[in-house]
Amino acid sequence: MRCGILTRKKLRLAVLVSGGGTNLQAMIDRSGAGALKAEIVVVLSDRPDAFGLERASMANIPAFHVDYKSIPKLAAADLEKLDLPVDPADLDRRQKIVRNPDPVERRSRLARLVLAERELIRIIDSFQPDYICLAGFMRLVTPYFINHFNAGGLKILNIHPALLPSFPGQHGYEETLQYGCKWGGITVHFVDEGEDTGPIIAQTVYPIRPGDDIGKIRERGLLLEYELYSQVINWLAQGYVLLKSSPGGRTRVEITDPNYGAILAGWIEKATVGRDVSS
Ligand code: GAR
Repeated sequence: MRCGILTRKKLRLAVLVSGGGTNLQAMIDRSGAGALKAEIVVVLSDRPDAFGLERASMANIPAFHVDYKSIPKLAAADLEKLDLPVDPADLDRRQKIVRNPDPVERRSRLARLVLAERELIRIIDSFQPDYICLAGFMRLVTPYFINHFNAGGLKILNIHPALLPSFPGQHGYEETLQYGCKWGGITVHFVDEGEDTGPIIAQTVYPIRPGDDIGKIRERGLLLEYELYSQVINWLAQGYVLLKSSPGGRTRVEITDPNYGAILAGWIEKATVGRDVSS
């Protein structure tokens, strides 16, 4: 199955951020320069103070926040009374990411996530995006959110600062460095119900040299993140992202761009002989 839209029209993107939003800025800049076959139609954050929201406003892109923290803790009795679009107990059975050993606590956490996600979905739907791009969105998304958008095919993308399946979670750069890896990696993948387990669309690597610290590594990796995310969006817009079934039943992605090899070589060259790594 081929993803994306095969006409020449630009994709419509909703971008979700939690913090500084440099990936978002790279998308805004590239879109403005005509290098991204997409327009960012809305930006959302789980934090009112995310600088990404300001970046969006400066670019005249509608920006919203859904303040997860303002949703009060729910006791078991409250859970019964809530009119939720999905049953938190069902989410709890399906998604094993919330690790609290107490099932009531887990369901309460999932119910609060669903309340926040219901608001995110309401806003995102009103902009009718083709894809939802998580760009430093540091929140778990539940099967409720995922299935809402994935009902007609994989529609949610995430960028992760490690070479998945190594180092999923929130500390990709730190864990890559602490493990003593000699190469770090960046991954863009579709989102499924696991923690950074969805089908991988693109990956690239950068060298880690003696003496490199976390700042150096993050700086090096982020430059590649911007390249990778834009390229994946362009591949989707061009219809170059093909979904295939592996013998085990897992969905995997094949990129059909005739320039694939050259693009990959370009990323590696940038990472290995670029100004920032030769010093
Ligand atoms: C990026 O490094 C991104 O890969 C990472 O957060 C950072 C956001 O930076 N995402 C994750 O770790 C997701 N698990 P930005 O706000 O400057 O784009």
